[in-house]
Amino acid sequence: MTVIRGATTIAEDSADEIRSAVKELLEQIENMNSIRRDEILSIVFSSTSDIHSYYPAKAAREAGFESCSLFSAQEPEIEGGLGLCIRVMLFVEKNIPPRHVYLRGARLLRKDLSGKMNIAIDGPAGSGKSTIAKLLAKDYHILYLDTGAMYRACALKALRSGVDPDNEAQVCDLMRTLALNVEYADGCQRTLLDGTDVSDELRTPEVSMAASSISRHECVRSKMVEKQREIAAKLSCVLDGRDIGTCVLPDADFKFFLTASPDVRAARRFDEMTAKGYRVDFEELRREIMRRDEQDSTRAIAPLRPANDAVIIDTSRLSVAEVLAAIKQKMQEKI
Ligand code: DC
Repeated sequence: MTVIRGATTIAEDSADEIRSAVKELLEQIENMNSIRRDEILSIVFSSTSDIHSYYPAKAAREAGFESCSLFSAQEPEIEGGLGLCIRVMLFVEKNIPPRHVYLRGARLLRKDLSGKMNIAIDGPAGSGKSTIAKLLAKDYHILYLDTGAMYRACALKALRSGVDPDNEAQVCDLMRTLALNVEYADGCQRTLLDGTDVSDELRTPEVSMAASSISRHECVRSKMVEKQREIAAKLSCVLDGRDIGTCVLPDADFKFFLTASPDVRAARRFDEMTAKGYRVDFEELRREIMRRDEQDSTRAIAPLRPANDAVIIDTSRLSVAEVLAAIKQKMQEKI
């Protein structure tokens, strides 16, 4: 006997959607595995708790799966899980190497079966991109690349070497000797500058401002972009930054641009910094964010702006869970 797995998603909870998604999924499983209908012993479905309109088992019967036993069950509600999803397990009489089938939004459940993907999340400081990018990467079991940390590491090197981040000639000289590496430990990015892990030194206001300044120079950007593209070409990943959708990966599978009002963004950064034990002044932080916004969005090379095909989400009044759900919904619709 062989057991074949599969899953698909529906765009909305309606009987028609369930009928067509179930039919498509089962027919693809048959085709991919070259099985005849009378070789199927039974089919077991489970659907997420947001599906109420129709039994997938009934839809299968209507689609012509008549001789096998059919069963549907409902899954518990899992926070942050993929919604509107129908899973299936087919028991087949003969012994064959199973080819599991994941369609539509459920492709995200099995990236190993459905190929590589890159997700671009751009936006200004405090828009929530790193929080969301980390959660997406965790949910989809893919890598999170914090591109801001790379510019921050360049800035740290300049500050440590007494180089003014605005002085292009000096910065370009410094870049020639830069050894920057990104590694992963327990799923977290560690940024290595000249062989030393500097991840915990990159979030100070001084480094933030210097990163914004240094990232204007072509010699810095070209080096960072090359590294980012190298990583994204090899692995599925979520990249957050300012220019991912417009410049680093113009062909990214999914592009999002997160925004929020300056007050909300400053408040988020304030909470984040104070939680880490930094003593920060709210007004000073707000001014720094505004200065960085201005600098990042008016620079000549790869300025901060949404790609034409990016989905823009204002996160000012949304919780993290709401932003995540909106992004996953958009991804599901696109697949
Ligand atoms: O995302 P962040 O706050 O860690 O980024 C720090 C600075 O780095 C930001 O002000 C501008 C620059 N940056 C950039 O120019 N391009 C990116 N892809 C990421 C960051």
